[in-house]
Amino acid sequence: MSRHTVCTIDDLSAFLRTTVSEKRYVHSLGVAKTTADVLSHFGCRDYCRTWNGFEAPAFCGLAHDIAREMTDASLLDYCRKNGLYLSQEDIVAPVLAHGTVSAEIAMELVGRYPMSWYKALCVHTTGNAGMDDLALALFVADYIEPSRRFMTDEKRAFYLGSRDISQCAYRVLCDMISHWREVGFHDASSGSLAMKDYLERKAGSTYE
Ligand SMILES: [Fe+2]
Ligand SMILES: [Fe+2]
Repeated sequence: MSRHTVCTIDDLSAFLRTTVSEKRYVHSLGVAKTTADVLSHFGCRDYCRTWNGFEAPAFCGLAHDIAREMTDASLLDYCRKNGLYLSQEDIVAPVLAHGTVSAEIAMELVGRYPMSWYKALCVHTTGNAGMDDLALALFVADYIEPSRRFMTDEKRAFYLGSRDISQCAYRVLCDMISHWREVGFHDASSGSLAMKDYLERKAGSTYE
């Protein structure tokens, strides 16, 4: 699909369907729905809700993993060709850059969309300090959406039983960090540690 030809959420969905696997497509639909549910569950209203006919949860859910199935070499190549910043962590584990590349591809598709949505897409993988409610909800939804096989209903209820969206994201983050360590994928990234520190100090979030 050529530049700026995605005008509606149906266009974006159609693009995604031809770009990623069926499993990733179903995951993305789940993230879109769950992001909306999480925002509603915690009564979050302080975020940019609509732009140009797009709703933030649906747009971010469908767009967040557009680049998730690109190879490491393709991700690095895209970043270099488009002048995107690559941290040392991204260079070591290029999959970490898929959020930023997804955000950029989304801009190629729809034009310049809200920067808060762009940032939510960029940080959805590892998190970072200073995330707004939309970014926190996307982060949570990515982990708990219904097609995630490792997630139990009991654990979902624990997350959604948090006192606010910050504690919910904090609990997810702590479990993600533990999970990454257990499977030996990678240690907590600087973004995850910054998010953890930020939520502890600014929001007073605790796991229990
Ligand atoms: Fe992702
Ligand atoms: Fe995802």
